[in-house]
Amino acid sequence: QAVFLSDYTPPAYLVDRVSLVFRLDPAATRVLSRIEFRPNPAAAPGQPLRLDGEKLRLIRAAVAGTALEDGVCAHSETGLTIPADRLPDGPFLWEAEVEIDPAGNTALEGLYMSNGMYCTQCEAEGFRKITYYPDRPDVMAPFDVRIESDQPVLLSNGNRGAAGDGFAEWSDPWPKPAYLFALVAGDLRAVKDRFTTKSGREVELGIYVRPGDEGKCDYALDALKRSMKWDEDVYGREYDLAIFNIVAVDDFNMGAMENKGLNIFNSKYVLASPDTATDGDYENVEGIIAHEYFHNWTGNRITCRDWFQLCLKEGLTVFRDQQFSSDMRSAPVKRIGDVLALRARQFREDNGPLAHPVRPSSYIEINNFYTATVYEKGAEVIGMLKRLVGDAGYARALDLYFRRHDGDAATIEDWLKVFEDATDRDLTQFGRWYTQAGTPRLHVTEDFKDGCYTLHIKQETPPTPGQPAKAPQVIPIAVGLLNPNGDEVVPTTVLEMTEAEQSFTFENLAARPVPSILRDFSAPVILERTTSTEERAFLLAHDTDPFNKWEAGRALAKDVLARMVTDNAAPGPAYLDALERVARDDGLDPAFRALALRLPSEDDMAQTLFDAGVTPDPLAIHAAREKLMLAMAEHLSAILPDLYEAMNIPGPYAPDARAAGCRALRQTALGLLSRLDHGKAAAKQYRDADNMTEQLGALGALLTIGAGQEEVGRFYRQWEHDRLVIDKWFALQTSHAAPHRAAETAQALTRHKDFDWKNPNRFRSVIGALAMNAAGFHDPSGASYELVADWLIRLDPVNPQTTARMTTMFETWRRYDADRQDLMRDALRRIARTPELSRDTTEMVGRILGDD
Ligand code: ARG
Ligand code: ZN
Repeated sequence: QAVFLSDYTPPAYLVDRVSLVFRLDPAATRVLSRIEFRPNPAAAPGQPLRLDGEKLRLIRAAVAGTALEDGVCAHSETGLTIPADRLPDGPFLWEAEVEIDPAGNTALEGLYMSNGMYCTQCEAEGFRKITYYPDRPDVMAPFDVRIESDQPVLLSNGNRGAAGDGFAEWSDPWPKPAYLFALVAGDLRAVKDRFTTKSGREVELGIYVRPGDEGKCDYALDALKRSMKWDEDVYGREYDLAIFNIVAVDDFNMGAMENKGLNIFNSKYVLASPDTATDGDYENVEGIIAHEYFHNWTGNRITCRDWFQLCLKEGLTVFRDQQFSSDMRSAPVKRIGDVLALRARQFREDNGPLAHPVRPSSYIEINNFYTATVYEKGAEVIGMLKRLVGDAGYARALDLYFRRHDGDAATIEDWLKVFEDATDRDLTQFGRWYTQAGTPRLHVTEDFKDGCYTLHIKQETPPTPGQPAKAPQVIPIAVGLLNPNGDEVVPTTVLEMTEAEQSFTFENLAARPVPSILRDFSAPVILERTTSTEERAFLLAHDTDPFNKWEAGRALAKDVLARMVTDNAAPGPAYLDALERVARDDGLDPAFRALALRLPSEDDMAQTLFDAGVTPDPLAIHAAREKLMLAMAEHLSAILPDLYEAMNIPGPYAPDARAAGCRALRQTALGLLSRLDHGKAAAKQYRDADNMTEQLGALGALLTIGAGQEEVGRFYRQWEHDRLVIDKWFALQTSHAAPHRAAETAQALTRHKDFDWKNPNRFRSVIGALAMNAAGFHDPSGASYELVADWLIRLDPVNPQTTARMTTMFETWRRYDADRQDLMRDALRRIARTPELSRDTTEMVGRILGDD
């Protein structure tokens, strides 16, 4: 049942126009479709008509006005086939009426209900659960939609048509694949605004939310307008309809969806107010609003030929939203955050059983490939391309891309060809970034003689499932050199590595320099180079590249932690002194200082130790990290209270990056301070907080030191009525529970009356949050593994997509000791043996276990 990229064939029939009528009813919605087909001149003639369709009750169907009697079509679980001899030679009209059950649709794919409102999620293959259709992205058509319902708000893609009592019509002139179809109906309130495009087109903007949430839309609306302007200014892309709507939905499997003119969002990425959303939430809202909006050009106007090309739209759109956020906020801080996320999720994936290329070559369930590799590594690949061809080359290539491929369902080959044509480069070897899985390792040695400094670099990518041997890739390595006084003697230069082994020489140097390698994280690789604590401290103090400055501190922290875990060593003064200099350096952006003072996560340390040949013990890592935090607190004790006060910005809460950075540093100080004052400052902050960032931060600091039980109760009573805030309440308790009590805590929370496990956000806030508690998840009793497996087995028949995604909690099982491996394997096998396990989860568990 696997699908292969190499099996691609063009569709036998194209669609000229789609017209849909929805008669909404919770358990028995009727969908009437009229689809104008035409044989594809690029395909073999005389083929049968294949229509995808799942969970549909077919009421009637007709071809060219003639009803199809029973038995004419070959019916299956996955669709219909109409024999060629029942089809006219030229274009023809297909008509059908089907019945579907939105209220019974708990998988949240297709047309479903969330809190009494109707909504849809069609990417990747959900449209086939709405009506019979060639549900593939290379079939594009304009859609006309009529919705009949007594719900007050009726929305679909495109521009408004006629509307009246109990109905509304919508018309989307831009040809689109079915995965971009959307429909919403419900008792919703709109917050409206307008935007004038650079050529003077007026666009009506609307954010639709449940009654009561109108006050939480301002930030999303503002982010939308900034995104629209930015895409005009930076990419020359203008919006192309008279209306752009966003709807917030509480039950949603993913973050959001870029349906043409009608984006549908998980409400947690739209709704924000100072008292309910944290700085992190605001940042996510801004980034995801931008992401979905940017898809209008990179995804919708130019879509993917097939789902193997998913990174064509996702990698590029992530890259664009990252650019946007770094323009809106601090570029270095954004870059560090993106790399932290890349390493935490993508490196973890790339170095485990789920490793796959940015463009996979086969899949069983495409929903399982909306991964950090396709998205985030896909974005890194574009960043490398841009670095290699330069800003001007990139701009030319993108202009050509939009000109050449507007209206197309394109491929990665098309994408690379645009760069080749615009910049006169041969990108054949660069193309390996799309086809080879795994994180390349760069092994670096150096020598210095007669003023010549040489870097010898070896690249190697370890085997990944199905790819035992790798060919060398093109790796842009940004390097700068500092002299021993700390001055930069060679500014950032991009070395272009193409061979398995290569040397690069810098001449005319007065003294042996200190290299700053892989500046700005110029490639998604792992740098392996033996260096000293002194050199790292030197770079932390002097590097002009903010990313590598941070990276040097990071490496120091990892060294210290690793030695604490393996040799029970005490943290040395070199690291603590370096930290103190950072903490005291008022010339540094507070957000940067907060990042530099933050220790690597326990999961990150587990991977680091594993890479160094040590079997990680999650409890020992947790203990060492706590111990180091206490040592930091003691070492910084003289400055913490002042730092905590200095970062207290007066005035009402504002979500901008500068203020958020101050709060982040203040929170770091509070976390350390709590270890010295038994939570006094945190308890006070909890009482005084007038925004969620500080309220939740205080509660987290209290829970970390084993206090805060009273506040947990108060928090619940204060926020009982707010789903998104209660999600945080669940997640915080699970992620901050003491390791030996994590499973028990999570289990108790699953018995709470508000644990609405069919809601993906709520499910993740307890079961998923266990992964944030690494030592608790890996408790040697195996209690957490068991709990997670029990719940995944329960969720699978209800919501396969979310279940499958969450099996990745187990993807690192091979890192650990034999006992833990056995326990995790047992949990995975128990999931695998579940009768009628979904295709989604079956594929994931099989890949994680490594049986083919
Ligand atoms: N295209 C959406 C986005 O990145 C994600 C949709 C994911 N849907 C899914 N079924 N995997 O913005
Ligand atoms: Zn996307």
